[in-house]
Amino acid sequence: MVESTEPYLALEPGVRAERRAIDETQSRRANAGEWDRYADEYQATHGAFLGDAGFVWGPEGTTEASLGILGPLDGKRVLELGSGAGQCSRWIRQQGGHAYGLDLSHRQLQHSRRLDEVAAITVPSVRATATELPFADDSFDVVFCSFGAFQFLADAEAGVRECARVLRTGGRLAFSITHPTRWMFPDEPDERGLTATQSYWDRTPYVEVSEDSGEVTYAEHHRTLGDWVSLLARHRFVLTDLAEPEWPEGHERVWGGWSSTRGRLTPGTAVFGADYSAIS
Ligand SMILES: C[S@@+](CC[C@H](N)C(=O)[O-])C[C@H]1O[C@@H](n2cnc3c(N)ncnc32)[C@H](O)[C@@H]1O
Repeated sequence: MVESTEPYLALEPGVRAERRAIDETQSRRANAGEWDRYADEYQATHGAFLGDAGFVWGPEGTTEASLGILGPLDGKRVLELGSGAGQCSRWIRQQGGHAYGLDLSHRQLQHSRRLDEVAAITVPSVRATATELPFADDSFDVVFCSFGAFQFLADAEAGVRECARVLRTGGRLAFSITHPTRWMFPDEPDERGLTATQSYWDRTPYVEVSEDSGEVTYAEHHRTLGDWVSLLARHRFVLTDLAEPEWPEGHERVWGGWSSTRGRLTPGTAVFGADYSAIS
């Protein structure tokens, strides 16, 4: 176990940050609880930026309308993993796609139902985990997540395998995550977040631990760019895109460790796009 030298941004009192090994079951339990607790604040803080029926790939505000990484959506069956309040899937429904949400957090899904009413666009959604998709083989044309499930999975192998299983041949997978190079830096939006303090190759998960109970209350998992490319290739995905959105001029919004101070110098988000070939 490695004690963190830097405090994670905005840690709750009584919670400490560490880097330590954690398996999929522990990770899922911790993150389900954390997202249930955090959902109200997350939606209150970021809801206007996300838009009730809006699709951004990350804190830079890069939209799917500008990136087009999912390809044509009209008439397509689309699954969003870690869909939160379903903003992205609602935007896809506006484009004519049949989008469905999936999330681990009950409270996030309650926000999704609330926004279904507000926007008058319903995203049928299910509470489940991205490593065990409750869908038949070959049932989707597109699977994606925008800062959704993928970086919360200890068992990313299972997550990508499940995407391959539910996608039809020729289907599309896309996901955004914290740019892997960001893991070298303290997660601070100011200058402190610009000095590398830990190894890029250290995959030890970031966890938050309750001082009282000793329980892990949150977990995020790091993989290098090479890890992701190899993982996709192992499951017969052909990588077609790796977008690294630039920080837009005049964009001064701070989101956790994302800010113009850092964004002008280093990428904060990576967006992968891949085709499922099913050919060995
Ligand atoms: C940063 S939020 C992003 C939500 C949404 N995509 C957005 O842009 O607002 C991450 C979401 O992933 C969900 N999540 C975390 N681990 C998951 C898992 N194993 N399976 C499915 N969803 C998960 C969380 O509950 C949370 O709603």
